[in-house]
Amino acid sequence: MKKSRRKFIQAGVLGGAGIATGGFGLAANAESTANKSKQVGDQAGKGRYLNILILGGTGFIGPHMVREALRRGHRVSLFNRGQTNDSLFPDLPHFVGDRDNGLDSLKGHRWDAVIDNSGYVPRHVADSAALLASAVSHYLYVSTISVYASFLQPNSEDSPLGTMANENNEEVTGETYGPLKALCEKRVAEQIAAEDLTILRPTYICGPGDRTDRFSYWPIRTASGGDMLWPGTRNDPVQIIDVRDLATFTIDCIERKTAGIYNTVTPAGMYDMGQLHDDCLAVSAADMKAIWVDNQFVAQQNLGEGRDLPIWAAPDGEARAVALVDGARAVAAGLNNRPVRETARDTLTWWSTLPAERTASLRAGLSAAREAEALAAWESQKG
Ligand SMILES: NC(=O)c1ccc[n+]([C@@H]2O[C@H](COP(=O)([O-])OP(=O)(O)OC[C@H]3O[C@@H](n4cnc5c(N)ncnc54)[C@H](OP(=O)(O)O)[C@@H]3O)[C@@H](O)[C@H]2O)c1
Repeated sequence: MKKSRRKFIQAGVLGGAGIATGGFGLAANAESTANKSKQVGDQAGKGRYLNILILGGTGFIGPHMVREALRRGHRVSLFNRGQTNDSLFPDLPHFVGDRDNGLDSLKGHRWDAVIDNSGYVPRHVADSAALLASAVSHYLYVSTISVYASFLQPNSEDSPLGTMANENNEEVTGETYGPLKALCEKRVAEQIAAEDLTILRPTYICGPGDRTDRFSYWPIRTASGGDMLWPGTRNDPVQIIDVRDLATFTIDCIERKTAGIYNTVTPAGMYDMGQLHDDCLAVSAADMKAIWVDNQFVAQQNLGEGRDLPIWAAPDGEARAVALVDGARAVAAGLNNRPVRETARDTLTWWSTLPAERTASLRAGLSAAREAEALAAWESQKG
């Protein structure tokens, strides 16, 4: 059952206040947060706040989306298990449950829009989309560029997607993550009318709060100075998206009901390893000396893309076009990408605020020992 809700949203927004107080007893304690931000949010002046449900909200991208929505005067409810950062956003309505057969707490409520951050398993996404299809007027599903079947050539939103050999396999692994997300997209589109559905396909999401350290490795390693191994050449492409730019675009899409599928990436070919090198040096002022090693040496040393050399892809490798995803459609729809230098700078600032046990070691990139070993091998090879 697919229903268009365009009429509803107009009614909803105008009548929002009524519904909010009537429909959402739970919303009472959110009043303070929403009202407080109502005075400051740019939407508030126009009285057009939205009630937004976030499936998730407390990991990495969620908190940025919550804050951006509140900054604009919207009201936000969270749905999650209460296991991740559960002290975050104590003022907001919190619907507790598990995507896996645990959506009961959402029944009987309405929102203007839902942002689905925690959909990895198609059955989960099908269940939440089926439940919320009649309870929201817009559904935004956060997917990933990993849905694409191949990165041997640049992908646009219409490129072939990966498929699951067994569609009942729900185990999320490095292999199945992409094809499962592609199936999740299909499941949500089976329930939500195209004009009420936004699907975002981010690449590496980077910046303050990132739990993977894939982008963070480069400015943080640079800041510790000395000889540093850099793979490939300065011209090797790099593509990321700053989490704050993703959050801004997400709330824009909700407000404007921007339907469709969007690769959310920095423009293809706009940025490369050379610029990353220069930006990391500029924001860290460190005495780092780059030792560029070629792809053959990287392969010979079995220095893995993704883990040891995060966000870099060998130009002759299987993922040669992973940093050349076409992002023109999202830019045309209003996505603004800040300079990557800003992301590098703010990542370093954020990193400096973290507790020692978190910053003791990075979760991606070369360990000091592995890097020293590889650099010694490179020097001896160069002879
Ligand atoms: N990081 C990247 O570079 C990247 C790139 C492309 C796409 N993505 C996409 O970004 C999304 C993840 O971002 P994020 O983790 O930062 O989002 P988030 O919204 O900040 O956090 C994930 C949330 O989901 C909740 N959750 C997890 N499993 C759940 C379950 N079974 N039932 C109910 N709630 C559950 C967690 O809370 P509880 O644990 O308390 O339940 C947490 O609040 C994913 O869709 C991923 O595919 C990420």
